[in-house]
Amino acid sequence: MSLPDRYVVIGNPIAHSKSPQIHARFAEQTGQQISYERLLAPIDAFEETVKILIASGGRGANITVPFKQEAFRLADDLSPRAQAAGAVNTLQFREGSVFGDNTDGVGLVRDIVAAAGVALRGRQVLLLGAGGAARGVILPLLAESPARLVLVNRTPERAAELAAQFSGEGVLIEARGYADLGEAFDVVINATSASLSSDLPPVLPSVFGNRSFVYDMMYAAEPTPFMAFASYYGATVRDGLGMLVEQAAESFYLWRGMRPQTAPVYDWLRTQL
Ligand code: ATR
Repeated sequence: MSLPDRYVVIGNPIAHSKSPQIHARFAEQTGQQISYERLLAPIDAFEETVKILIASGGRGANITVPFKQEAFRLADDLSPRAQAAGAVNTLQFREGSVFGDNTDGVGLVRDIVAAAGVALRGRQVLLLGAGGAARGVILPLLAESPARLVLVNRTPERAAELAAQFSGEGVLIEARGYADLGEAFDVVINATSASLSSDLPPVLPSVFGNRSFVYDMMYAAEPTPFMAFASYYGATVRDGLGMLVEQAAESFYLWRGMRPQTAPVYDWLRTQL
């Protein structure tokens, strides 16, 4: 019997990663023989870690904090969505070359549109934050043809830079400051890291109507402060657990050519938090 194809998730820290459990379930479901483990890379030795992995027969890797930009620089070829994101969360080791992709944005969009059943087409969408997490999801969001995408950031220049980078994709895209938001949005997505420190982006409650759908890219056993705030003002809320599962499914598809069912894995993972 041949050895299973080997995949890993590389980060620092990495002990908390749920990706091995997710991919184990995908493999079980689809009958694929793979192994998938956590791999801690020293902060200053990401490239070396990847080279050793390739030399030892690894087939691919997911990349998480803080190495997504380094993975982008290391890849020989990039998908358009990785190019736009400026970051890579999925590597595929091909014959003599390394392919870099980014499945985070499509993961977010699938979780909103397919799993939560909320259409983005023709809707007013507000994206909070202008760091790596925000940049990574803009192209897939624009591909859904919202009526308008508004980018807001605490440091407004960063939102303006992103709006300039993505203008010309056929969707109206605007950069604003938090103080310049008055109207309600159909969909509000929190891509700031504020929830990590139990903090709130300084958004006014008027952005939430009682038909707003509000998404926090973070997740935890309890609703994040941002979700609690939005639901207090009448919005329907969802955390980022589904995005985690969907981005994994897209990586699995790139590597194995098969689409696992995500709903049962999402339900199971929720019980583990
Ligand atoms: P990531 O890769 O997670 O996006 P990042 O590149 O450090 O991390 O970006 C963090 C984002 O969260 C930024 O948009 C940051 O705003 P600034 O650009 O003004 O720093 C935003 N952010 C972090 N804490 C925040 C808070 N308490 N309120 C509002 N925005 C916050």
